[in-house]
Amino acid sequence: MRELPVTRLSGIPPTIFGEMSALAAATGAINLGQGFPDEDGPAAVLARAAEALGNGANQYPPPFGIPALRRAVADHQFRHYGIELDPDSQVLVTTGATEAVAAAMLALVEPGDEVVVFEPYYDSYAAMIRMSGGVRRTVTLAAPGFRLDVDALRAAITPRTRVLLLNTPHNPTGTVLDQDELAAIATVAVEHDLVIVSDEVYEHLTFGAAHVPIATLPGMAERTVTISSLGKSYSLTGWKVGWATGPERLVRAVHSAKQWLTYVSGAPLQPAAAFALDELPDWPAGLAVELRRKRDLLCAGLASAGLRPSVPQGTYFAMTDVAVLGWDDGDAFCRELPHRAGVVAIPVRGFYDSDAGRTLVRWAFCKRDAVLTEATDRLAAADLRPGRPARP
Ligand SMILES: Cc1ncc(COP(=O)(O)O)c(C=O)c1O
Repeated sequence: MRELPVTRLSGIPPTIFGEMSALAAATGAINLGQGFPDEDGPAAVLARAAEALGNGANQYPPPFGIPALRRAVADHQFRHYGIELDPDSQVLVTTGATEAVAAAMLALVEPGDEVVVFEPYYDSYAAMIRMSGGVRRTVTLAAPGFRLDVDALRAAITPRTRVLLLNTPHNPTGTVLDQDELAAIATVAVEHDLVIVSDEVYEHLTFGAAHVPIATLPGMAERTVTISSLGKSYSLTGWKVGWATGPERLVRAVHSAKQWLTYVSGAPLQPAAAFALDELPDWPAGLAVELRRKRDLLCAGLASAGLRPSVPQGTYFAMTDVAVLGWDDGDAFCRELPHRAGVVAIPVRGFYDSDAGRTLVRWAFCKRDAVLTEATDRLAAADLRPGRPARP
């Protein structure tokens, strides 16, 4: 049989998250790999979804999403950031932030256009830039501080650059871009007439450092597609309810691609998502308080195990460099870890084009306290140096 031509994706490995979760399941290890909470979001929101299923919200919703959710997203942007949006023309409901990113790339990137991303990058970005025919240019957020190097950003821009694909708060480093960094990005975007696609799914999960949407900076609203979703803010990662907002011409462009991906997004979850945003606006802030405590619990445990975590300002994740234990490959460390310590983490070298992530490993702390404690106790008890035998 002829080889199947998967040309658009050649060189893009399959997503590591499913593989590491399967490894956790196969070995019975504690899964600190994939970023999903082990406790559900608010019961009242779950009840709304169940009600919607029983009440006939089961046919195709309107192309841009149900009016109540579009209005709730617009109100959310105004309540938290003072961003004014017309729910009828500037809000698009998507199947998670993932689809919003995908549709934005397919709509805004012409073959040969360059897209600048930070590395480490969320893995779907690489795949979507490739599927849109774009060329990825990376700017390294260098360990251990993972801050933006503005000169490196400037150096990454060429006459072919079309889009800056931002992510703040940033997965996997936990960096929350500050005003100065955002202002520098804004200056570059105006100078080179770039479109910004800003993935802000962790917007509410910050620990002291305030999240600032780049669309609020002068001159940015007109050139920015802002993306978020319900998943992280309300601990409902399996729902895949997301949205893209921004100026009408950009939102329409994103919709032009979205309509051919999923046509519309799941109807019965949309009233419940609107309910969450409208009626439980403070729930995510409570979650952030909880997560801050969990971050501290995990980071203390990692430190006791001889790893030296970079303490994140936001998200679900802490990063370590396993070179401190003598490893020269984070991937090999993570494949060995379930056998050594009964824990799974994510190697991030695949989220880099450069070699800078070779020994970096990401740990998720969106888990129950007892799970985090058990995981770090196991790490502390295990011999984590390279070349040691697996535990008996
Ligand atoms: C940076 C980033 N963007 C997007 C997503 C996916 O969001 P959704 O589940 O809403 O598609 C994730 C999930 O881990 C993420 O970390």
